[in-house]
Amino acid sequence: MEHKAKGYDKAEQKFFITKNLKTFSENEQYLEAKLNNEISDFFDELIPEEPIPIRNMFTHSILNSLWAIIMGYTFKKEDPQVKILRDLVQRVTAIPGVIESIGMFNPWMSNLMPNFTGVTSWVEAFQSLIAFVDGKVEERKQTRVKGHPRDMTDAFVDRMEDTNDPASTFFPAKNFLPNSMAEMLIAAIDTTSTAMEWIILYLTRHPDVQRKLQDEIFEVVSKTRLPTLSDRPNMPYTEAVINEVLRIAGLVPISLPHYTNVDVEVLGFFIPKDTLLIQNLWGIQHDPEVWDEPEEFRPERFLDGSGRFQKNENLVIFGPGKRTCLGDSVARDQLFIFVTRIFQRFFVEYSGMPPSTQAKHGIVLHADPFSAIFREI
Ligand code: HEM
Repeated sequence: MEHKAKGYDKAEQKFFITKNLKTFSENEQYLEAKLNNEISDFFDELIPEEPIPIRNMFTHSILNSLWAIIMGYTFKKEDPQVKILRDLVQRVTAIPGVIESIGMFNPWMSNLMPNFTGVTSWVEAFQSLIAFVDGKVEERKQTRVKGHPRDMTDAFVDRMEDTNDPASTFFPAKNFLPNSMAEMLIAAIDTTSTAMEWIILYLTRHPDVQRKLQDEIFEVVSKTRLPTLSDRPNMPYTEAVINEVLRIAGLVPISLPHYTNVDVEVLGFFIPKDTLLIQNLWGIQHDPEVWDEPEEFRPERFLDGSGRFQKNENLVIFGPGKRTCLGDSVARDQLFIFVTRIFQRFFVEYSGMPPSTQAKHGIVLHADPFSAIFREI
């Protein structure tokens, strides 16, 4: 089957981004180092023993550690551009109401009534984000040396300069670089930082799980050494907790819309060419036929009888199949480092009533605003 999405060759971009995400995040543990710096700044700002609103608490660190891979530098906390960037990304990922949701499932309706279905405002936010990234790309180009990429933007520009095929997304006249990076920021930032918010929410609701997680951190890492990604294979309980939060919160409830580009038959169902398909990821992760008591928060479901971490193919938080998320390993690395560093240092409690597990709808599901208290241990 041809791998072309409506509009442009997705496979070409996906291959490039996957490869370069790996190169620039793993090169001298760049992502880990950047994220550790971010978390140290985060700790400097954090006021222990007082209720702190959790919404957007992790966005700056997650955004900056990814921005470093894309652009080779990070923003200072007080830089107003961070808020601009964050707001643009969140405007694109939010679906404010029922009408917008219906429009998303019915492209004919969005085409007919772009204002009413929120498409106009969505397109405006997306265009502004592309313009923002474009400005940064132009700044970055001033100091690059061809053939010596410092980051993903440099690698993209190198590739553009070597591309003569007008059909390619790297063909210089198409200037697809800002679009591609904007799409990645949209996909990466709100997802991973909201995952952290859900982790805090569930661990404050389940202090017993939080204590077991801490026991594993102290045993494997100690109370003083920095956790590293090489600790991950030795920390099955931590892995199980992160996976269980991702499953139960189901923070990306449906996949991206995909079209069939040929007639196909799946499990006896005939699906004609050009059919819009959306997978119900939330439904798969809460299906009582495949999960025992799916509404129960139980990290042990990801451990085998000997306490080893076991994958479950019904956990489809990053989307199943060929069109799966290309940032899953970056996201998992970020979550592991953040979780181990926070719970190595703090016991976290909710403030007031237990936070609700009920999510507000959107492309990314958010919890109702809640506050938590970080108690130094
Ligand atoms: C917890 C964090 C994350 C979750 C839950 C998540 C989930 C998803 C899901 C469900 C999809 C759609 C898959 C489909 O349509 O079948 C997706 C696509 C995508 N994700 Fe993620 N994601 C996360 C983090 C990231 C990060 C960190 C990056 C980049 C560094 C990223 C980049 C992308 C991109 C570029 C796509 C589009 C792929 C395509 O068009 O084929 N995501 N993600």
